[in-house]
Amino acid sequence: MPEGRAYKDLWEHIEELDNAGLLYRIDKPVNKDTEMHPLVRWQFRGGIPEAERKAFLFTNVVDSKGRKYDIPVLIGGLAANPEIYRIGMAAESLDDIGPLWERGLNHPVATNVVDKAPCQEVVMTGAEVQGAGNGLDALPIPISTPGYDTGPYFTAATWITKDIDSSVQNMGVYRGNLKAADRLAVMMQISTQSGGYNHWKGYQKRKEEMPVCIILGCPPVVEYTGPQKVKLGVDELTVAGGLAGGPINTVKAKTVDLYVPAEAQIVVEGYIDPEYLEPEGPFGESHGYIALEEFNNTMDVTAITMQKKPVVSSIISQVTPSESSVIKRVAYEPMFKSYLRDTLGIRCVQKVSLHEPLTNLRRFVAITVDRDAKKTEVWRALMGISAYQAAVGKYCIAINDDIDPDNADAILWAMSYRANPVKDIQIIDYRARGHGPVLRESSDESTMLIDATLKYDLPPVALPTKEHMVRAKELWEELGLPPLTPEAPWHGYSLGDWNTKWEAMARRATDGDYLVNGERTAQLKQKLEDPQVSIRDVMGDDFNPDEA
Ligand SMILES: Cc1cc2nc3c(=O)[nH]c(=O)nc-3n(C[C@H](O)[C@H](O)[C@H](O)COP(=O)(O)O)c2cc1C
Repeated sequence: MPEGRAYKDLWEHIEELDNAGLLYRIDKPVNKDTEMHPLVRWQFRGGIPEAERKAFLFTNVVDSKGRKYDIPVLIGGLAANPEIYRIGMAAESLDDIGPLWERGLNHPVATNVVDKAPCQEVVMTGAEVQGAGNGLDALPIPISTPGYDTGPYFTAATWITKDIDSSVQNMGVYRGNLKAADRLAVMMQISTQSGGYNHWKGYQKRKEEMPVCIILGCPPVVEYTGPQKVKLGVDELTVAGGLAGGPINTVKAKTVDLYVPAEAQIVVEGYIDPEYLEPEGPFGESHGYIALEEFNNTMDVTAITMQKKPVVSSIISQVTPSESSVIKRVAYEPMFKSYLRDTLGIRCVQKVSLHEPLTNLRRFVAITVDRDAKKTEVWRALMGISAYQAAVGKYCIAINDDIDPDNADAILWAMSYRANPVKDIQIIDYRARGHGPVLRESSDESTMLIDATLKYDLPPVALPTKEHMVRAKELWEELGLPPLTPEAPWHGYSLGDWNTKWEAMARRATDGDYLVNGERTAQLKQKLEDPQVSIRDVMGDDFNPDEA
C-alpha cells in the first residue's frame, strides 16, 4: 500500500492489474460513442471463460464528431472477473472477500478530512463547465448500448448525497444520463429504496435543492462500497474505511457542502432540483432489457474538479454476465450466506449462489445445504432468502453440494430427480417485481420455492469412478488430445443406495474377473412372470446384499 493510506487509488490499481497480466492497453483510436463498449462486450458474449476476462484501458479515445480526449477510459477494471475485484479489494484470496465485507459493515472507520487533495488539482467552475465542448461534454464518457441509449452515461459513477436533517452522507452507484455540459439526469431507484432517493424526498418536502457530488474513478475499495446494500444512515465512506482497514481521506467539495474521497480521479459537483423531474433514458439496464424513457431527477453542475492526469472508469452492464453483475455477486453472495447462517441461525447452509448469466443475480437463488439437513431447516432457508430483500429470490432452490449451482443443467438435473413438484415446490403470492423492465400491464409477482435436495438414497451417478477418470485424464494428456476443463459431475459417486456386494462385483469386472460374477448370478436364477423385478423384491428383506 502507498505510504499513509490503507488503500490504493485507481491508477495504482491499474498498475497492479497490468503487472498481473489482467490489462489490455488499447492505444489505437477507439470511438467512445460507437465502438468502445461493443468491443468490451465481446469479452462477455464471445465464449471467453470468466477467468480470462481482463480490464481494457483505452488511451486514445475519440468520438463520433472526430474529437480526441486526453483522458483515458478504463472498462472492466473494477470487476471484469472476480480476480480483478480481489486485487481491487487487496484480499489475499476470493474466500477472504466475505470476511472483509463483514469487517467493513460491522467495523466502519471514520473518514480522515484533509485540506488539500489530488482530486482538486484542477478546478473548473462557471463558464468553464458551460456550453458544448466544456464541462461534462469534455469528458470521455462512453455510450453503453449504441443503437438504443440516448446519450453518454455515467455507469461507474458514485453519487454522494446527505440527509437534510442529520447531514449523514450516502454513497450509491446510479446511472447518469448526460444532457448538457452542465446538466444530467439520474435514476435513483424507489423499489430498492436507494439512499439518494430517500435523501431527495427530504429536500423535496422543504423545496430545497439537494447538494450532490458524483465521483468518477474512486479508489476501488470505495467504488465497491457504492453498489453494496448498506443500512440507511450509515456513511458508506466509513464502510469503505472498514474494508480497507484504515480511514478514507476526504476533502470538502468546492461548491457544495459535501465531502468527497480525496484520491478520486474526477468529481462533478452540483444540485438536484427538488421539484422538477426530466425525461431520462432509454438506456440498456442490468436486468438485460432497455429501460425506456421515464421522468427522473435532474441535476445542474456547479463545478468539476479533477487530478492533473485522471482516468475515467466505465462499468459494462446490461445483459449479464457483465462487470456490473460481477461487482454485485462477489459482494452479495457472502452477505446472503451470512444472513441465513448467522442472523437466522440456519447452520446447514453451506453456500448461497445468485444465478448470473442472463437472469441478473437476484431472480434465481440456489442455496447449498448439508446432505443431512432437516427438512424444516431447508424450508426455513428457502423462506428466509425469499424474504431477505424485496428484489431477491423469485425462484429459490435448495440443493446438495454435488450439484454445481452455477450450472443450470445441474440445477435442472436436481429438480428432475430429487424434487416431487406436489410435495417439494411451494408458490407464494405477493412479491414485488423488483428490478426488471417496466411492463405496460404491471402487477406483483410470486415466488417459487423448490426443495431439490436428496430426501432418500439414490443409486450412484452413472460415470466411471474417480480413480478410472483420473487415470483416463492422464492418458488423455499423454496422447496430446485437446485440453480438458472438467465439468461436475465428471466421475461417478455414491448417493447412498449401493452396497459392498455390488462394489465387489464391479471390482471383479475391472480386475477382469466378470466370469465369477456370472457364476454367482447363475445360482440365483428364478422363474418369474415378468422381467425388471428388483433383486431386493425377489430375495426378500432378509436377503443380505452385503454378502460378498
Ligand atoms: C453498474 C451499476 C449501476 C447501477 N445503477 C443504479 C441506478 O441507476 N439506480 C439505482 O438506484 N441503483 C443502481 N445500482 C444499484 C445501487 O448502486 C445499489 O442498489 C446500491 O446499494 C445503492 O446504494 P444506496 O442504497 O446507498 O442508495 C447500480 C449498481 C451498479 C453496480
